[in-house]
Amino acid sequence: MKSLLSLSLLMLISFSTFSQNPIIIPGTIETTNINLNLQNGTFQFFPGQNTTTMGVNGPVLGPTLIMNQGDNVNINVTNNLGQETTIHWHGMHIAPSNDGGPHTVIGIGQTWNPQFQVMDKASTYWYHPHLHLRTDEHVSKGISGFIIVRDADEAALNLPRTYGVDDIPLAVQTKSFDSSFQILSNVNDDDVLMVNATIDAQLDVPAQVVRLRILNGSSQRKFNFGLSGNMTFYLIGTDGGLLAAPLALTRLPLSPGARAEILVDFTGLTVGQTINLMSYASEFSNGVYGATNPGNNPSMVLDGYYPNTMNGTDFNVLRMDVVAQTASPVTSIPASLVAATPIPEGNSNLTRPFTFTPVTGGVNQLNGYFAINNATFDMNVINETVPFNNTEIWTFQNNSAITHPFHVHDVQFYILDINGNPPPAYLQGRKDTFSVPAGGSARFITKFTDFFDATVPYMYHCHMLKHEDALFGMMGQFLVVDSTASIKDVELSDSVLLFPNPSKDAFMTIELKQNTEHILAYSIINQLGQVVSHNDIEGNRLVNSYSFPISKLAHGQYFIKIFTETQIITKKFIKN
Ligand code: C2O
Ligand code: CU
Ligand code: CU
Repeated sequence: MKSLLSLSLLMLISFSTFSQNPIIIPGTIETTNINLNLQNGTFQFFPGQNTTTMGVNGPVLGPTLIMNQGDNVNINVTNNLGQETTIHWHGMHIAPSNDGGPHTVIGIGQTWNPQFQVMDKASTYWYHPHLHLRTDEHVSKGISGFIIVRDADEAALNLPRTYGVDDIPLAVQTKSFDSSFQILSNVNDDDVLMVNATIDAQLDVPAQVVRLRILNGSSQRKFNFGLSGNMTFYLIGTDGGLLAAPLALTRLPLSPGARAEILVDFTGLTVGQTINLMSYASEFSNGVYGATNPGNNPSMVLDGYYPNTMNGTDFNVLRMDVVAQTASPVTSIPASLVAATPIPEGNSNLTRPFTFTPVTGGVNQLNGYFAINNATFDMNVINETVPFNNTEIWTFQNNSAITHPFHVHDVQFYILDINGNPPPAYLQGRKDTFSVPAGGSARFITKFTDFFDATVPYMYHCHMLKHEDALFGMMGQFLVVDSTASIKDVELSDSVLLFPNPSKDAFMTIELKQNTEHILAYSIINQLGQVVSHNDIEGNRLVNSYSFPISKLAHGQYFIKIFTETQIITKKFIKN
């Protein structure tokens, strides 16, 4: 089977006359009442071969949800899979309880009903399962759908937006099949490429400007998109919004989980002409899943990675055949798009470091477990607490030999630098997923606005689903906590002891009486309600008591907010 597939891929590359299949374009749901039915199904990726799948309102993929900024959406997600799952709205800025992370499990036969206002900028988002340990299985078996958000700024532009005609969603995925054509997950031998669940996909494109919304929906593989003949295309949007102006490119690397909107100008091309969307993976340096060598040293091996005709070679992703122009076509690339609003570096209140390290097998290990800040995922450990409305710089040090695509829920961020250099132009827009290079470093800036929740966390993780999903997964979770609200509700009960108080010592001690709970973090707030210090107590050193420094505090009265797993307790103290 493997060699047959590899052979067919080779043939695809060698003969342009290889048979093609018209691409599937998912249907749309444009109302604000959205019903999604998660179901098992059967689908023929290969003619005559039945594959067991999972899909939404159909055997595979899911409908494209078209939303407008400001809409109040009411979504019913019914789980008819016969097993638990979750659905996460990747890239959207929504409350933790609506986010669909691993804590928001939809039981067998249950319906989950998130309701939220769409706050996002016009862009392309996506939804996918996020059950701890089963994400890759549920995504690989087929659950994945697009979310297109529209807004007034986008509507004012002369852009193609006729869905399925000149505005095309493309979910690019690689999968692995066993010899009976069943989908495997958590493996490294993904040798079947498909776009919108269509192998050897073909798309008719009118002879005008066409917008492609590309999702890298693969479990692990990175693509280096480009057009045949090195034809120029224009990047107009990244994960979370449009750019200030179209960016002319001939290559666009895209990490798993990330999206990009591009314009391709077919105006003036002859009807019948063919342009291929390609991945120029031969140009990848080693150290990325998709390159010749996935480790940055060729001696490192990844089980199942070879042979695979996609690794380190250029290949076709989608054949595009030019057809006649439509009525009222867009025939030019706009000169400018929307106002860009990057966050100035000086706005940051806190720098939060993240280090990626192999857990087993030493620094050369490519395949096993990876830790973030020496911790692997534990559903019961809050790794970080972020004060509500904080502007933060997150720094990344990748001490492993493979590139990891980092993703964070809740926010869009702006990349400040990668390996100490400003990011390439195609990474300067709003992002929620980006590559932290093997052996390299990066920084981004973001702001945690609008939502806080003392109990339901957001996730951050590697979007290589095999890494995220592992028993010791490359994922962590953070609470956004409101440090300043209701500081007048000072806790008078004795569930927390605070001593000595008043004090002129160097330290004061907080002690939880309830020893099933832990002190996850605390904030010290002055009488003006300003947070003068905030400290996350490392999640893997769960403590019931903690001595915090007060020597640098000016004399006066303060509040301390103590964050535990289930409550926020405010106490008053006096520094003498
Ligand atoms: Cu696309 Cu936490 O995921
Ligand atoms: Cu996400
Ligand atoms: Cu990873």
